[in-house]
Amino acid sequence: MSKLWGGRFAQPTDQFVEAFTASIHYDSRLYPQDIRASSVHCRMLVRQGILDAAEGEAILAGLAQVEQELAEGRLPFQIGLEDIHMHVESRLRALIGPVAGKLHTARSRNDQVATDLRLYLREQVDQLREGVHLLQTRLLELAAHHVETVMPGLTHLQNAQPVSFAHHLLAYWEMLERDWQRLGDARRRINQLPLGSAALAGTPFPVDRLWVAQELGFEGICRNSMDAVSDRDFVIELAAVCSLLMGHFSRFSEELVMWSSPLLGFVELPDGFCTGSSIMPQKKNPDVPELVRGKSGRVFGHLFSLLTLMKGLPLTYNRDMQEDKEPIFDCVDTVGGCLRVLADLVPGIVVRHGVMADAAAVGFTTATDLADYLVGKGIPFREAHEISGRLVRLCVERGCPLAQLPLQEMQRVEARIDADLLPLLTVQASVNARRSLGGTAFDTVRQALRDAWMRMGQKTAEHA
Ligand code: ARG
Repeated sequence: MSKLWGGRFAQPTDQFVEAFTASIHYDSRLYPQDIRASSVHCRMLVRQGILDAAEGEAILAGLAQVEQELAEGRLPFQIGLEDIHMHVESRLRALIGPVAGKLHTARSRNDQVATDLRLYLREQVDQLREGVHLLQTRLLELAAHHVETVMPGLTHLQNAQPVSFAHHLLAYWEMLERDWQRLGDARRRINQLPLGSAALAGTPFPVDRLWVAQELGFEGICRNSMDAVSDRDFVIELAAVCSLLMGHFSRFSEELVMWSSPLLGFVELPDGFCTGSSIMPQKKNPDVPELVRGKSGRVFGHLFSLLTLMKGLPLTYNRDMQEDKEPIFDCVDTVGGCLRVLADLVPGIVVRHGVMADAAAVGFTTATDLADYLVGKGIPFREAHEISGRLVRLCVERGCPLAQLPLQEMQRVEARIDADLLPLLTVQASVNARRSLGGTAFDTVRQALRDAWMRMGQKTAEHA
């Protein structure tokens, strides 16, 4: 088969090298962007008098047909044609003849591939943002039912202080909110047009890059032709944003795995998202959160591949850069899949209020409330902490919870303790005492929920 760049070559490409260098098996997904950018490029060439109207029309009609064939899977891929750009151009030539060769005027595959990838990732970012928004909505819906569900808040995986389950869920909502914003920040830098930079140095033809940018919905143009064709920061940045997202999914998944274990029994996951064991009939395994947790590894790996891929590359385009696609495609695919499966799973979570509430009291989780009470009696916090600690030790020795230590025993350790302490040592009282902004008191959490809904509403308004 004759290459589109074959003129300089006397010998054909080595067969294995053809397979080794081909990218069509993964970059074929860029065909809608490739056709779209080519069509706008063609219209610009006509507007600028670089092609005549008839040539432009022939090319546009041909491109539309190539797109149709690709959409219907009727265009067979050939590794000898390397990539999606070559497939489109060679099919165009087969359809409309030599005039197809005029499409590549004032353009190179270097600015072409960067343009296609930016268009593609821009769409992916928009879909991921919608996915994040949906998962946030599902978390708020679940949280709305659990403002007064108390659970043990942990540090070091040790029972620390009781919290509202809704408060815990809202913590994930905040992480996702930052992810949503980060996707938006990344989008601004993705959404710049490289096309018109040609191979690396610009082009002698009177192109109108600003018009092309506007037609393709780019916010601006890449200002330096050499940077335009060699920059993959936007790919790395998106992989980093995806990595943070996966880190958050992984933490949430880990909690689902722990909560659903019979060891804790805080929640029951929906059957449709679990699997059984082929040998142990009683098992119900949390495979979905486990896989989500596991998939964070590949996305982190992709971030590192991309960083390593680009480090030390001299300006400008190098073929190494073809290796950017598989990792970033897998990043967006993986994050998209995780968003979907988590958004579907969350509404099916059944919460065992009683088990959570009982666990919230285990481990002297209201010892801080005891210390805070003593502070109210004028005792410096450090001293109050010491006294409360001694009372906990007493309870450990007796094997009883703080609230069941007889008042006289307490008073023997600290005379300023009165009967008014006892109601403060329940988990409900402890949660409700924490009214500071951002704290876990029921009313505070209710307000946080309202704020979160409002922030969601503002986002949809901005989007519209
Ligand atoms: N398939 C190539 C890539 O993905 C397209 C650009 C090729 N450019 C070149 N000068 N060989 O990077």
